[in-house]
Amino acid sequence: MDLRKEIIEELLKHNILVEPDVVDFIIERGGKDYLPHFIEEYRPLEVVTLSSLKKEKKASEKTVFSKPEASEYEWDLKVLMGEVELKIKGGGVEDFRSLFLDRYKRLARILRTQTQLRGYTEISKLRGGEVKIIGMVDEIRITSRGSLVFTLEDPSGRVECYYPEGSFLLNDEVIGVVGNYSENNGRIYVKEILRPGVPILKKNRKIAENISVAIISDTHIGSKMFLEARWRKFLEWLKRGKGDAAGVKYLLIGGDLVDGIGIYPNQEEELEILDIYSQYEKFAKYLEEVPDYIKIVMIPGNHDIVRNTEPQPVLPEEVRKMFNGNVEFLPNPGIFSIHGYKFLMYHGTSLNDLVEMIPGMSYERINEIMKYMLEARHLAPTYGSKVSMAPLPRDFLTIDIVPDVFITGHVHAFTYTMYKNIHLINASCWQSQTKYQKMMNFNPDPGKVAILNLHTDKVKVLSF
Ligand SMILES: [Fe+2]
Repeated sequence: MDLRKEIIEELLKHNILVEPDVVDFIIERGGKDYLPHFIEEYRPLEVVTLSSLKKEKKASEKTVFSKPEASEYEWDLKVLMGEVELKIKGGGVEDFRSLFLDRYKRLARILRTQTQLRGYTEISKLRGGEVKIIGMVDEIRITSRGSLVFTLEDPSGRVECYYPEGSFLLNDEVIGVVGNYSENNGRIYVKEILRPGVPILKKNRKIAENISVAIISDTHIGSKMFLEARWRKFLEWLKRGKGDAAGVKYLLIGGDLVDGIGIYPNQEEELEILDIYSQYEKFAKYLEEVPDYIKIVMIPGNHDIVRNTEPQPVLPEEVRKMFNGNVEFLPNPGIFSIHGYKFLMYHGTSLNDLVEMIPGMSYERINEIMKYMLEARHLAPTYGSKVSMAPLPRDFLTIDIVPDVFITGHVHAFTYTMYKNIHLINASCWQSQTKYQKMMNFNPDPGKVAILNLHTDKVKVLSF
């Protein structure tokens, strides 16, 4: 069968009818390799003509401006972690020690407020009988009978703990335990394990103005798999400013703004734009189309130009200057408030680790991992896997402030839930399946936008 026929038949299987010119368009972009991307992008249109492809491009060039409600309000954005020192000064054992000591102190401070841990003891001062301690988890093992044995460490020393009922812990988590200390074998027989946790937020945070926040992630500009038509539909929707779009005053983007260069093996074969600065220029051009009353807040991800080690600093000046004044650049994680709502936006590299480490997790259950992060009060509890951490004197990955909205991205799935009155959003992407994702048997869920209305405190999910 010739290539043209094969392409047409494959498209028919997906109920897509195309003009002959469109087949040339597909062949020019890589033929059968480009086909899955084309199907992902054009499925909603069903009949694709070359002029309809061109029309979509043209429509995006003119700006329709009718006065949407959001344009009448002032911005109220406060950066809660902005001018902080993220520069790495050393990488020795002592530097990492101070990072972990800071983690311990921050999380122990939260644990100490729990009634069950009142009157806790330092490990070096343990005496036989009932004890309460706070420590960092190390050397976890499960016995043949299913009991959990682990070591807890605080700045004064280490102690072995035995928990017969089994449970689940991550290395480097900071937890509290209540149990009985045996002076004979120097072991604590644990009765209860406590995580720092989050309280159930009870405040009424709804605001008077009808303002919404649109939440997206992983745009991956520069990739051949970038879903341009769907992205343009989203831009057009924002620009029309009708219906739900009329209230959109903020656009949050959770990292992987561009596809970058050399991020995964043979990535260059899948790049439309081979220069990272040109990728950012293209992105800046798209964002110029966003109406000027919308404030854009963005953080970097693992595909962006900054170091991979977390926390990631804001994009460098030579990239920032490409964007207009509506864009606020934050580090990863980004912590800020919008009209009093507290936001924690983390790209999510640790999700890859946690999906493997926590029993029963999957890429469809990212919200469960986000709950675990909140309970552990840490964005990347375990050191030494895929997340590389900067040995700074302060641990910026601890969750010091309980957010109203917790956002991650990175895994190209979309999930939303409410947990203890906190909105948990794993934001979607704008890239169809890459060869690498295909190899990993991962199917992305692109083109979804979460719209959080701060007046009703409700999230609506739109698909483009
Ligand atoms: Fe990504």
